[in-house]
Order: sequence, then structure tokens, then C-alpha cells
Amino acid sequence: METRETIFGRRSIRKYKNQTLEAEKLALILKAAMSAPTARNMQGWRFITVQTQEGKQKIMNAHPYSMMLQTAPCAVIVCADTQESTPFFQQDCAAAIQNMLLAAKDLGLGSVWLGVYPNKERADGIAKEFSLPENIVPVGIVVLGYGDEEKGKEDRFDPAKVHAESW
Ligand SMILES: Cc1cc2nc3c(=O)[nH]c(=O)nc-3n(C[C@H](O)[C@H](O)[C@H](O)COP(=O)(O)O)c2cc1C
Repeated sequence: METRETIFGRRSIRKYKNQTLEAEKLALILKAAMSAPTARNMQGWRFITVQTQEGKQKIMNAHPYSMMLQTAPCAVIVCADTQESTPFFQQDCAAAIQNMLLAAKDLGLGSVWLGVYPNKERADGIAKEFSLPENIVPVGIVVLGYGDEEKGKEDRFDPAKVHAESW
């Protein structure tokens, strides 16, 4: 797929086919995640892959907008190990998540980013459901699978939001 299609054609997919995600595709998506930049190259991200119905139910218990996991085959909880990250850990994980969304698009998959941290209720809920140690902060969740909805491109380029040289 052309780079242009990957970036400009990516959309959040919230309806999924009940179809297994190939292990090779998940591995590539995790590789893409860990190719992202991190502050001081700390790579303090940690990933929890969730593919069982039981695991997906735990996410649905903790996150109010995760009901697409009734059919989507896979979710990856992207966490930061705060003992092995700088205070930029949210940006580190966000960069990894965006790489995952683009890799998914490139592989013909649908995806959606579910925000967790700094929403306390969601972060505490995920931490409890997945027995996370104190130093592991769940930053976001990436839902992955074969989409069951088509979404067109959206051109959001707005020149008014670009300031040349100074505000
Ligand atoms: C930090 C962050 C948190 C988000 N949280 C959710 C969420 O909890 N549930 C959801 O359905 N979409 C969530 N999204 C996806 C946005 O709603 C979506 O990206 C936005 O509406 C633009 O649509 P698009 O992704 O199709 O371009 C989140 C996106 C970001 C960047």
C-alpha cells in the first residue's frame, strides 16, 4: 500500500468481523510499535496482547467505549514502565500507538485507539483487571481486526492552524 494511502486513508474502525487476526500480522504491528521514537531512546513501553474472550471482557469491564471487542479479535494494551521511562512516557506510548494504527492500515486491517491514561477510572480499572504492578501505567489500547465498515478519507488540512515563523 502506498504511504499516502496508509496515512491519509487511516480511520477509526469500530465494527469488526468475527475473524481471527493472523499471528504474523500481530507480530509486525508490535514490531512497528517498537520502531517508534522514545525520549532518550528509553523504550519504556510494554504491551499486553489480549485475544481471549475472557481478556476482552476484562477490557470491556474497565473501558466504557470498548464494546467493539465483542467481535474484534484482538486488543493490545500499551503501557509505560514509569521506572524505565522519562516523564515523556505518554508521548512515547502515543508514538508507538500511531505506528500500530498505520501498520494495521498497511496490512489491510481496521484499528481504533482507545484512550486510557490519564482518565483515572479507566486506568485504575485496567490496572485492576490485568493485575498491573504500580510502575506500569496503561496509556492506551489498540483494537485490531478485520473491519466490517467502510470509512472514506477525511481531509483535515487547515492552513489557518499553521503559523509561519512566529504566532
Ligand atoms: C488519545 C485518544 C483517545 C481516544 N479514545 C477513544 C475511545 O476511547 N474510544 C473510541 O472509540 N475512539 C477513541 N479515539 C479515536 C478518536 O475518536 C478518533 O481518532 C477521531 O474521532 C478521529 O477519527 P479517525 O480516527 O477516524 O480519523 C481516541 C483517539 C485518541 C488520539
